[in-house]
Amino acid sequence: MKRMKKSEDDIKKAVKEHYRRSVTPKTSCCGAHGESSPAPTGDRITEAAGYTAGDRAGLPDGIPSFGCGNPVAFANVGEGDVVLDLGSGPGLDLILAARKVGPQGKVIGIDMTPEMVEASRKNLEKAEVKNAEVRVGEMEDMPVADGEVDWIISNCVINLSPDKGKVFAEAYRVLKPGGRMIISDLVTKDLPAEVRSDMRAWVGCIAGALEEEEFVRLVRQAGFKDVAILAKSVFGETSSELSVIDSCCCGSGTDTCEQPGGDLSGKVASILLHARKPA
Ligand SMILES: C[S@@+](CC[C@H](N)C(=O)[O-])C[C@H]1O[C@@H](n2cnc3c(N)ncnc32)[C@H](O)[C@@H]1O
Repeated sequence: MKRMKKSEDDIKKAVKEHYRRSVTPKTSCCGAHGESSPAPTGDRITEAAGYTAGDRAGLPDGIPSFGCGNPVAFANVGEGDVVLDLGSGPGLDLILAARKVGPQGKVIGIDMTPEMVEASRKNLEKAEVKNAEVRVGEMEDMPVADGEVDWIISNCVINLSPDKGKVFAEAYRVLKPGGRMIISDLVTKDLPAEVRSDMRAWVGCIAGALEEEEFVRLVRQAGFKDVAILAKSVFGETSSELSVIDSCCCGSGTDTCEQPGGDLSGKVASILLHARKPA
C-alpha cells in the first residue's frame, strides 16, 4: 500500500500527473494504478454521469468525461450569463454551458493541468464554441476577478483539493452578489483509513472526498446561503449497471479500473449541491 504524505504540494503534484496522463490518448487514470486501458470516452460513460442524448449530440468525437454528474443540467443558467467551471478538464461541461449562455454570455474554465487546458481548447474549437475560454490556474487561487461570474459549476473536482475551505472562499469571492453554485462531487461515509491514506484513491476522487456534513459545513462557512443537496446517488445502492465509482474513477469508467480498498458499497456517493451568495 502506497502511504500518502499529506503535504498540499505532494497532493497537487500527484493529481496533476494523474490527469496529465489521463488526458493523453491510450492512457487513462488507471495508468496511475499501473494498468493500461482506453481513455474514458463514449456514450456509456457520459450516460452514467447523467448526460442525456441531447447533451451528447454534437459533441466532439471521443470527448471524455471525468465527472460524476451533470451540473450544467441543474444550473438554471440563462442567456447572457457568465459561468465558471472549476477544474474544467477536457471541456465537456464548458461546451454544454456555452450552449446555454448563448452568444451574449461567456463561459470560463479553469484547470491546473496544462495538458487538460490544451485538450479543452481543442475540443472547444472542434465544437465551434466561440464564447468560452480556459485559464490555467488553481481553484484555491482562482485567476478570476472579484464578482466576475453569475454561476459556478464543478464536476468531480473539489474532492481533489487539499484545501477545500480555500476553494469555497474563492468561489464566494468571484461570484456576483446573488450568484449561484452547482457542484457535482463525491462524498464518503466511514471510509476505511487505509483508503483515506492512499494516494491512488486520492487522485481517483475517493480519498479526498469529504463526508457530506463536512462538505455542507465548509460551503456555509464561506458565507453561502440556501445550501442544499439536490440529488444523491450512493454507490452500491443504485440500480444502475455502472456504479458511481465505475463511471467516475475520476476518469476511467472502465471495468478494469479498480479503486484500492476493495468493496466501497454504501461508503461513496455522488451528490449535487446548490449554494447561493447573498445579493
Ligand atoms: C476528475 S477531473 C474532472 C474534469 C471535468 N470537470 C469533467 O467532468 O470531465 C478533475 C480535473 O480537475 C483538475 N484539478 C484538480 N485539482 C485542481 C485544482 N486544485 N485546481 C484546478 N484544477 C484542478 C484536474 O487537472 C482535472 O482536469
